[in-house]
Amino acid sequence: MKLSNKVEAMQFSPIRKFNPYGIKAEQEGKKVYHLNIGQPDVETPACFMEAIRNFDEKVIAYAESGGRPELLDAAIDYFKTYDVELERGDIMVTNGGSEALSMSFISLLNEGDEVLVPEPYYTNYATFALMAGGVVKPIPTTSEDGFFYADAAKIEACITPKTKAICCLEPGNPTGNCLTLDDMRVICEVAEKHDLMIIADEVYREFVYDGGTPGTFLQLPEYADRVIVVDSVSKRFSACGARIGLLISKNKEFMSGIMKIAQGRLCVSTVDQIGAAALFRLPASYYDEVKAEYCGRRDVVVEELNKIPGFSAPTPRGSFYMTCKLPVDDIEDFLMFLLTEFEDNGETVMFAPAEGFYATPGKGKDEIRIAYVLKKEDMKRGVELIRLGLEAYNKKLGK
Ligand SMILES: Cc1ncc(COP(=O)(O)O)c(C=O)c1O
Repeated sequence: MKLSNKVEAMQFSPIRKFNPYGIKAEQEGKKVYHLNIGQPDVETPACFMEAIRNFDEKVIAYAESGGRPELLDAAIDYFKTYDVELERGDIMVTNGGSEALSMSFISLLNEGDEVLVPEPYYTNYATFALMAGGVVKPIPTTSEDGFFYADAAKIEACITPKTKAICCLEPGNPTGNCLTLDDMRVICEVAEKHDLMIIADEVYREFVYDGGTPGTFLQLPEYADRVIVVDSVSKRFSACGARIGLLISKNKEFMSGIMKIAQGRLCVSTVDQIGAAALFRLPASYYDEVKAEYCGRRDVVVEELNKIPGFSAPTPRGSFYMTCKLPVDDIEDFLMFLLTEFEDNGETVMFAPAEGFYATPGKGKDEIRIAYVLKKEDMKRGVELIRLGLEAYNKKLGK
């Protein structure tokens, strides 16, 4: 059997690559702190299950391909809090933000077309682009420049005749970088000038700290025809397993194309849509509480990282990730050491090596991504284990 060139070109998720070693360490009796994956330990709001328990239809029937009306209406009301007016036809319910991304790429890209993505980026973009026959092209950013990319010259330097869209993460994974509304406007102006679409991945929308204002590209109505927003209940409501996302655009031609794909996959889980509709109706206080929790976790991580001698941790302003350099030449080798050789009182730690979040060869080799998704004491211990592991690793290398 010969697999397709598309699949041959894909890589396994760098976030999951070290899982077998993590599992083995756990089987050997070690406790492993998982700072490697964006799976929060925050409880899913009880209204999700309550709504499902109250669902008393006798048949779990297919839902409408575009989504159940109660979920569409709940999402419409949620976006009103951002002064964004939507109609049911502007929204497609998807199987997580993942399907919204993949559908967007399929409907925009022809063979060999390019999507610009600020690098380092959420690695699955590369997989979704390849599934659609296209490819991602990085807009290079660095930790030194705060992973900033809302700069017309920087973006334009990456545009080629094959560029179809700019994919923006707001706030970012793996960087924690945030965009202001003015930054979004700069990106939209470039898109307008070069006739590109914008795919705005806003699955972490509310997680903006230090007084920053959560925003959406939908707040720029003058560019509404170019904007596609990807949304999800996974992170905002800590409901990753519900697999409910949204694809939103005012561009009717685009949404009509998306409907063809949606009808092909029939529908999204009826039951999960019922629960998700209740989540979108949570009061503003829910977001304040969750945001305060993640912000506190971030502060613990930064404080603990700064205990590494000679190290100064960046303070990311959004999402629940941070990417930073560690004083190690080969991060993957260090992670293997943590999982296969190191332990402190029967415990070790796992993070994601950042190299896999870069398309440019050689970049990110000395960087890690930490997901601050565990409660504060676990984050504190997890980062402490990185520091202790680093000491033991350097000792092993004779440093
Ligand atoms: C930036 C970003 N976009 C999209 C997704 C996909 O999320 P889901 O399919 O669970 O909605 C993730 C998941 O980690 C993500 O980090």
